[in-house]
Amino acid sequence: MKRLMMLLLALMTGIQGWTGNIAYGPWVTESRSDRVTICWMSEVPGMAYVELSDGTQVWETFAGRRIFKRLHSVQINGLEPGAELCYRVCGQDLTDDSNARNPRFGDIYEGQWQRVRTFDPEAETCRFSVFNDIHNQVDEYSALAAQVDSAATDFLFLNGDIVSAGNYVADTLVRYELEPLGTLAAGLPVLFARGNHEGRGNNPQLVADIFPNEDPAPFYYTFRQGPVAFIVADGGETGYSRSILYSGSAVYEDYINEQIRWARQAMQEPLFADAPVKICLIHVPMIDHPDKNDYLLQRWLNVHFVPLLDEAGIDLMIGADLHEFMYLTPGTMNNPFPILVNDDVRRLDCSYDSGKLTLTTFNVAGEMEFSTVLEVGSL
Ligand SMILES: [Fe+2]
Repeated sequence: MKRLMMLLLALMTGIQGWTGNIAYGPWVTESRSDRVTICWMSEVPGMAYVELSDGTQVWETFAGRRIFKRLHSVQINGLEPGAELCYRVCGQDLTDDSNARNPRFGDIYEGQWQRVRTFDPEAETCRFSVFNDIHNQVDEYSALAAQVDSAATDFLFLNGDIVSAGNYVADTLVRYELEPLGTLAAGLPVLFARGNHEGRGNNPQLVADIFPNEDPAPFYYTFRQGPVAFIVADGGETGYSRSILYSGSAVYEDYINEQIRWARQAMQEPLFADAPVKICLIHVPMIDHPDKNDYLLQRWLNVHFVPLLDEAGIDLMIGADLHEFMYLTPGTMNNPFPILVNDDVRRLDCSYDSGKLTLTTFNVAGEMEFSTVLEVGSL
C-alpha cells in the first residue's frame, strides 16, 4: 500500500521512479577533478548502484561481490575536470538472506536525477562555504545552509564538531552531519575535516563511512578547485593530557606526526605547489595562544606544523574549535600567515577571483558579521 501511494504521488508530481526506499541522500563527497563519491542511506539493506545519464550503472561492490548494505558509497571515476555529472541513486532491497546462495530481493528504487560538477584546476574562480561547531543544532544548521547560493558555490566544507561527542549509529550521524544541508549535498560536494568531537566516542571509524576519502587517509588530504589548492589536516583531540584519555586508546601524537610526514611530500606535488593560492583547512587552529595551559595542542601544532605550511607558501588557515571568532593577521599568535577562526554556528563564505580572496561570515539570521578581502595569488 505504501508503495502504491508513493507511485501515485510520483505519477502526480512527475517524479521518475520509485524513490520511497531512500532514507536520506544522496550526498556527494571525495570530490576531485577526475572523480566523485556518491553516498546515500536506504531504508533497508540491499544492492545499490549509481545510474548515469548515458545509462551506465556503477554498482556498489566489494572484492567481486555486490554487497547488501544500508549506507551506500559508490565512486564514479574517470571523469573530466569541470565535467557535469548527471546521476541518480538506485538499488534493490534485500528481503531474505536466510539462504546465502539464494538471497531474495524486492523493490527496486530509483532516486531523482541530480547534477554535480567535478573540480577543475583550470577554473578562474573558487567559491566555497564553511560550517563548523554546529554541535547537533540542526535547526540553526539548516538555516545557515538554506542561505547558500548553490549556483555560486563550488563546494561545502564541514570543518568539524558538526556533532557533539557520542556513540552514534550511522543514521544519527547522517541526521546531524548531512540532513540539515537538505538537497544542497546532492549537487555540491561536501568535504570534511574531523573535529575533536567526531574523534570521541567508541565508533570513530563510522565518520569515515559517511565521508569516505581513501587517498591518502580519511581525514587528511589535498585537493584543488580553480586557482586554490587546499590541504586538510586532522588536529585530533584537544583535551588536556589527551594521550591518557579513552583508557589509553588515543594515540594522536603518532597520528599527527604521520600527517606532518605526509604533508611535507603532499605540498610538493605540482597540483598543490603550482597553485596561485594555498589554504589550510583544519578544525584545531595552529595558534600560539597566550593561555599556555588550555591550548597545548594548538601550541604544539604551531611549533611542529606551521613552519612547513609556511615553507609551502600557505596564504590562509581556516580553523574552528574555539567557539569564538578570531581573525589573526600575521604575527598575532606566532602565525606567519593569516588565520581565520570561524565562530560556532556561523557560515564562512570564501571566494577567490583575480587576486582577491573575500572572506565573509554570516549568522543564523543571515546577517553578515565580518568581511575582509585578502590580496593573494602571486606565485
Ligand atoms: Fe566545538
